[in-house]
Amino acid sequence: MGVSKVAVAVAVVLMVAVIERAAVVESITCGQVTGSVGSCLGYLKTGGKPVPACCNGVRGLNSLAKTPADRKQACNCLKTLAGSVKGINYSFASALPGKCGVSVPYPISPNTDCAK
Ligand SMILES: *[C@@H]1O[C@H](CO)[C@@H](O)[C@H](O)[C@H]1NC(C)=O
Repeated sequence: MGVSKVAVAVAVVLMVAVIERAAVVESITCGQVTGSVGSCLGYLKTGGKPVPACCNGVRGLNSLAKTPADRKQACNCLKTLAGSVKGINYSFASALPGKCGVSVPYPISPNTDCAK
């Protein structure tokens, strides 16, 4: 009796953990995206060398956006961000992944086609 109650309790805890994890994995928010690349804005405007926090953010973005749906969402967030921040130089933006040594599956640009 006592043992099966514990088993049920453990099963419930495991199920909740799985559900929470699934929720985290499938929803990337624009807040996360903006937070990831926020430290890149200085570089995106003036060029030069991106700060380490910026490269870490770009790298983090890649690991956040694993599924096609996440990538699409992240792409849309970047696109919105790129369109809403004044003074971003897109030649700098397209050079960013190279400068950080990471590959990004989509360019940071207001003209990016996120449906691809
Ligand atoms: C972006 O930066 C490049 C390289 O410094 C420069 O040639 C170009 O004029 C800049 N473009 C804009 C829109 O500021």
